[in-house]
Amino acid sequence: MPTCYETMDDAALARETERLQADVDALAAQGLTLDMARGKPSPAQVDLSRPVLDVLTSESSLTDDGVDAANYGAPDGLPSARRLMAEVLEVDPAHVIVAGSSSLNLMYDLVGHAFTRGVRGATPWSELGEVKFLCPAPGYDRHFAVTEHFGVTNVPVPMTETGPDMDLVERLVETDPTVKGIWCVPKYQNPTGVTFSDETVRRFAGLRPAAEDFRIYWDNAYVVHGLYDQDDELLNIFDVLAETGREDLVYEFASTSKVTFPGSGIACVAASPKDLDDIRLSSNIQRVCSDKITQLMHVRYFSGREAVVDHMALMAEVLRPKFELVEQKLTDGLAGLDVATWTNPRGGYFVSFDGPDGSAKRIVAMCREVGVTLTGAGATWPYGDDPRDSNIRIAPSYPTLEELGQALDVLVACTKLVAGQLAAEARA
Ligand SMILES: Cc1ncc(COP(=O)(O)O)c(C=O)c1O
Repeated sequence: MPTCYETMDDAALARETERLQADVDALAAQGLTLDMARGKPSPAQVDLSRPVLDVLTSESSLTDDGVDAANYGAPDGLPSARRLMAEVLEVDPAHVIVAGSSSLNLMYDLVGHAFTRGVRGATPWSELGEVKFLCPAPGYDRHFAVTEHFGVTNVPVPMTETGPDMDLVERLVETDPTVKGIWCVPKYQNPTGVTFSDETVRRFAGLRPAAEDFRIYWDNAYVVHGLYDQDDELLNIFDVLAETGREDLVYEFASTSKVTFPGSGIACVAASPKDLDDIRLSSNIQRVCSDKITQLMHVRYFSGREAVVDHMALMAEVLRPKFELVEQKLTDGLAGLDVATWTNPRGGYFVSFDGPDGSAKRIVAMCREVGVTLTGAGATWPYGDDPRDSNIRIAPSYPTLEELGQALDVLVACTKLVAGQLAAEARA
């Protein structure tokens, strides 16, 4: 579909790009400094979790379920913290290890485990010629960074409206033994906001990998992060695996980073009992035990899944108007021009925006000149290499509503100008 600028005659296009340039110049003259780059909760959201800090005092009992949180012990985490995270993920607490304050850290550790020790006795990846990971794209840049850091070849797989392109996933996973993993954010995916369909989850659970040490890295970072009462339903992949009796396929991750305090909450990994035993071969070398005091604060504050869900409803009150403003501003500014498409997620932290081919780097650079920092163009693709140079990740959570509105006005104006410029250049 041609953009509206491509359908204009030369004179009209010249007039229009001049007008669009004037709009951008006027915005630049405002001297804005706005940041819509990273998916951080706003101060108003984080403040909602301050009462978590009040649940422990020097007078508090630090013993929980017979475990002394103030001392070494319970390397898999406080039993009550394992129960809480198991309730959140709807898995068996015995299949959960709670450790550390960052799920990304656990993902890094598991890739490290595969490299140094090997998955379940398989040859350590450090001894293999090539190791590949599938990277649904657009996707989460820090996932791609972990595997890139270890020298893994990151292979992009297109995201669709129902999850990754499963025909391609099945073909690559089932025929190529060097494919050892796939990064997935199955609910409110970063950045598209897509929740994987039941069929996608069933196809993941039904994979017959060519490599015995292949695992799905199922990062359920946004498991309780719906914006509306009607939450997206994600089929529980471990339930599907249990039906088929094949549970050694998935490592599931989550954390409270966007529930309470980013980087200062609790994180967990869920896996089959045999996979957990395998993981312990590395994790029990790495540490004596993890931070059980923070775990205790979380379980004293959150009595169970319902309490987490109630807390997240308060978060959603703050976040929902921002997502609705994104949808409104983009619709008002760009609908009908055929210059961009974008997602309208019902949860998570991001909106995925696509401009015309060859536009993303220019839009991001132009926005920066006008005073708006966006996530770098290409960040949503492995190696920063978006083949169409079209995708931009919008992170609406951190700015205030007013700042967000201004930043979106800039994005809209720059998208239109770049689309006009591209149409003009194609004729020159
Ligand atoms: C999909 C996804 N996973 C993990 C993280 C980071 O989580 P943590 O703070 O638990 O390392 C983020 C943060 O934006 C994310 O979007």
